[in-house]
Amino acid sequence: MKEIKVAMFGAGGFAGNYLNAIPLKKREAVRLIGAVDPFVKECALCPIYNTPDELFAVEQPDIVIVSTPIHLHAEQAIYAFEHGCHVVLEKPISATVESARQIMAARDKTGKLLSIGFQLCYDPVIRAVKADADAGLFGKPVSMKVLVLWPRDHSYYHRGTGWAGKKLDHAGRPIYDNVLSNATAHYLMNMLFMANSPVTSLECATYRANAIETFDTAVMKGLSTTGAQLLVVVSHAAGKESQQNPMFEYTYEKAVLRWGGKGQTAKNFTATFNDGTVKDYGEVKQEYGENLWNMVDAIRDGAALGCPAETALWHLQALEEMRRQQPESTPFPASWVQETEGLTWVPGLGKALNDCFDAGELPHWDLTAPELRP
Ligand SMILES: NC(=O)c1ccc[n+]([C@@H]2O[C@H](COP(=O)([O-])OP(=O)(O)OC[C@H]3O[C@@H](n4cnc5c(N)ncnc54)[C@H](O)[C@@H]3O)[C@@H](O)[C@H]2O)c1
Repeated sequence: MKEIKVAMFGAGGFAGNYLNAIPLKKREAVRLIGAVDPFVKECALCPIYNTPDELFAVEQPDIVIVSTPIHLHAEQAIYAFEHGCHVVLEKPISATVESARQIMAARDKTGKLLSIGFQLCYDPVIRAVKADADAGLFGKPVSMKVLVLWPRDHSYYHRGTGWAGKKLDHAGRPIYDNVLSNATAHYLMNMLFMANSPVTSLECATYRANAIETFDTAVMKGLSTTGAQLLVVVSHAAGKESQQNPMFEYTYEKAVLRWGGKGQTAKNFTATFNDGTVKDYGEVKQEYGENLWNMVDAIRDGAALGCPAETALWHLQALEEMRRQQPESTPFPASWVQETEGLTWVPGLGKALNDCFDAGELPHWDLTAPELRP
């Protein structure tokens, strides 16, 4: 079997999950040959190079995994294509739809493969649910809702090279990092993946409690192309006591699909049919590296990619439409915002966002009130 050589762009942060996954050797004859990272000087698993040119001067990888900050995705993915590689690209594809299309054009010009690292799209349990949905087992989707309230403190916003929550980097390259492009991106993506659809008729409300340029709280609603109501409610600023791990509630004509529930940590994905019978699909494990093994299978056997760019583009299009509608997020009134042990949060926000989720509505908060009164 011909060996597949893998290189990484980015070796620290999330890239560490790939570095740990590759030695598990879930496929034969796949070898990590090096990583490019100007800020990581040592790695026990492979040589580190300062630039892609230094790596390509001595190696010719078959696959490049791009797991660097968002504003580098386009130039690095295009570089890899132009140097004869397939690309496993971390999510989101890039900062803008325009640059995502440039990546896809480079893919098409070079005839190489591109997959995007939304790991839920590669999970065997999610894929089994989706196969049943696509086969019509549940009928058509009617309403699909997602709720994630994940506190993120100041260390989150200051990690790495300091790109979190920024619109542009120091060189003016777009980043547009926000709660829905980063930590909760997977859950918006899963809804669209299951619905096989972009968001149409999108409406949104975006807010910030943290001192960031984008938003840490968002409610987004819209429709799928088949008319299902879509609702996403996410925040990093609802406080620790309101923490809500990701939950999906997808109502179809014949069944309600659930992953997690209020106050719970999601484990198994279930479908409860209208006659009360339950189909339990098992635990969604979201193991890291599945997108790499999927790319290996695609190269060797022509396997379908779990998350092609065309699918991941729906996520980016939704974010871009939100940005078009609200170029500036609404700051929460200073009197509402509290600081507790490095966490910036808004008392009452957790309940208020749960109310939005339950009602399927955007918020209508009185920002002149002395406190948030849902
Ligand atoms: N799939 C997931 O669940 C998940 C989770 C977290 C992050 N991510 C994604 O992973 C990517 C990286 O995020 P992160 O939080 O690890 O970022 P990070 O800021 O920690 O950076 C990752 C690595 O890239 C390196 N880097 C910076 N500039 C570089 C350059 N010019 N060339 C090569 N390497 C460079 C940094 O030194 C760091 O080691 C982003 O696209 C992010 O959205 C995905």
